[in-house]
Amino acid sequence: MKRPEYLVSFDTSKVPSFTTDVLIIGSGIAGLRAAIEAAKHHKITLLTKDGLSETNTYYAQGGIASQIDKPSLVSSHIADTLNNAHQLANPSVIKQVINKGITLVKELVSWGVEFDKKGKRFDMAREGGHSFSRILHSGGDATGRHLQKTLIRKVRATNNITIFDYTFVIDILAYSRTCHGALVYNQKSAALFVIWAKKTIIATGGAGQLYRETTNPQIATGDGVSIAYRKGVTLQDLEFVQFHPTALYVAGAARYLISEAVRGEGGILLDRYQRRFMADYHPLKELAPRDILSRAILNQMKLTRDTNVYLDLRHLPSSKIRKRFPSLAKLCKNFGIDTTRELIPVRPSAHYLIGGIKIDLFGRTNIKNLFVAGECASSSFHGANRLGSNSLLEAVVIGYFAGKTASREVRPQKIPYLTYVRRYVHGKVNLTDITNSLRSLMWYNVGLERNETGLKQALAKIDYWSSYCLSLEFSSPQGWELQNMLTLARLITQSALKRIETRGVHYRTDFPLTVPEWEKHSVI
Ligand code: FAD
Ligand code: SIN
Repeated sequence: MKRPEYLVSFDTSKVPSFTTDVLIIGSGIAGLRAAIEAAKHHKITLLTKDGLSETNTYYAQGGIASQIDKPSLVSSHIADTLNNAHQLANPSVIKQVINKGITLVKELVSWGVEFDKKGKRFDMAREGGHSFSRILHSGGDATGRHLQKTLIRKVRATNNITIFDYTFVIDILAYSRTCHGALVYNQKSAALFVIWAKKTIIATGGAGQLYRETTNPQIATGDGVSIAYRKGVTLQDLEFVQFHPTALYVAGAARYLISEAVRGEGGILLDRYQRRFMADYHPLKELAPRDILSRAILNQMKLTRDTNVYLDLRHLPSSKIRKRFPSLAKLCKNFGIDTTRELIPVRPSAHYLIGGIKIDLFGRTNIKNLFVAGECASSSFHGANRLGSNSLLEAVVIGYFAGKTASREVRPQKIPYLTYVRRYVHGKVNLTDITNSLRSLMWYNVGLERNETGLKQALAKIDYWSSYCLSLEFSSPQGWELQNMLTLARLITQSALKRIETRGVHYRTDFPLTVPEWEKHSVI
């Protein structure tokens, strides 16, 4: 199927437009940090398709990994990240992100992020795969909320930044392998307009909504990766999708994430027979790396014919849970779960897109004037797996570098005339129905465990749905999001089918071994 360059027809001479120096798409940690840096020298326009706070960042719980308290342990953070990456990380990127992270995380503190303390020292938590306690958290399990609030406050207090919320980026405008800005749809005025930009930074976050079970909010539909793909930007490692082992499995709770830090504080996992099963799978038990833990839970669910396993906090004082995990305590209360007497039903959920748009340390892509930062990027920092609390760190550092580099390189630019006509096909589809079918398909066939038969079936279905959905021209975000999700789902599935080995979070039941000839990135 030919890939359409744009999702809608347009003619830039007929659409209202304005110009900016640096256009930033996304208001999570990566976009906000990029905006603050770029605004030091230039006029910035920041867009988000929802409210400013509705981001993956806002929901982050566990924290941000940075050894700001003990410089002697920084090298161990670097080693842990490298060891967890299954030979697919770039050691130089790891070193630079972790080292620069120390300064940038301290700067967050100076801007007002109050990381929790024990006495005068930071109360560092430990998560799976980290050899030492190095996770800074805020408000117990409300780290993301505090980061997001502080960054928004800082952005609002910074001159040079114009914000448009509820403004959906349909596509970037590119001509002759150069990015010139974006075609956007303002949901408040229901109107299309063009933003011409000398530099554009995509920071649109993850794609958890591709899966039926996910910890991600509704905004995480992978738009940025699909937008980049339509313009021939190089993508990398899309088969690597991380699943979080413990999301609350209660109808109506929207797969609320239960932080790894809860297990770090002593929470244990039991099956329906109240058996602590993790020792059967890994010596670190509940603190084993996430991919191992997630697959162990899945296996135990199969062995015990249950829809979930159980997190046991009954041995932990309720005062400790209320203080350290106030959001979890409130949630359990809302669903009538008394953690001192009852078990919490949990199961894995899609959590983090490790692959994405290929960038260098400065956020540069293979298209001129286009930068990318945050979860939609693939900087080779995480490799084939991701350590808990390393993504906020990577997003803040690459966001900083992308903002700084893009603004440094701002030059006058000639505005092109662009037009695009889609061959309009009449027809109507039930968007919710296809979206739900796609999410179910991805969960069962392209989830925690994959095999050739399942992946081929998924490809065939995605291609069939795409054959009539991608040719339609929609006029609102729900349709464009579905088109982006179909595009990205195909790319993830195709990459998973191609990698005939098991590595990191990519687990093939038909190819369970890691093989040296696959010690390479998959590139699209
Ligand atoms: P986001 O924060 O997701 O922001 C994306 C932005 O792009 C949003 O403003 C969105 O509206 C906008 N956008 C998307 N598409 C469009 C479009 N088409 N047009 C306009 N705007 C668009 N990581 C950690 O390191 N530590 C943790 O403790 C942690 N906990 C987590 C808990 C949960 C429940 C979840 C879901 C994730 C967690 N993560 C954690 C992962 C981490 O939160 C994310 O990887 C990180 O916040 C991503 O930041 P970002 O800036 O790249 O994207
Ligand atoms: C968690 O709190 O377990 C999530 C941390 C992360 O995804 O990095």
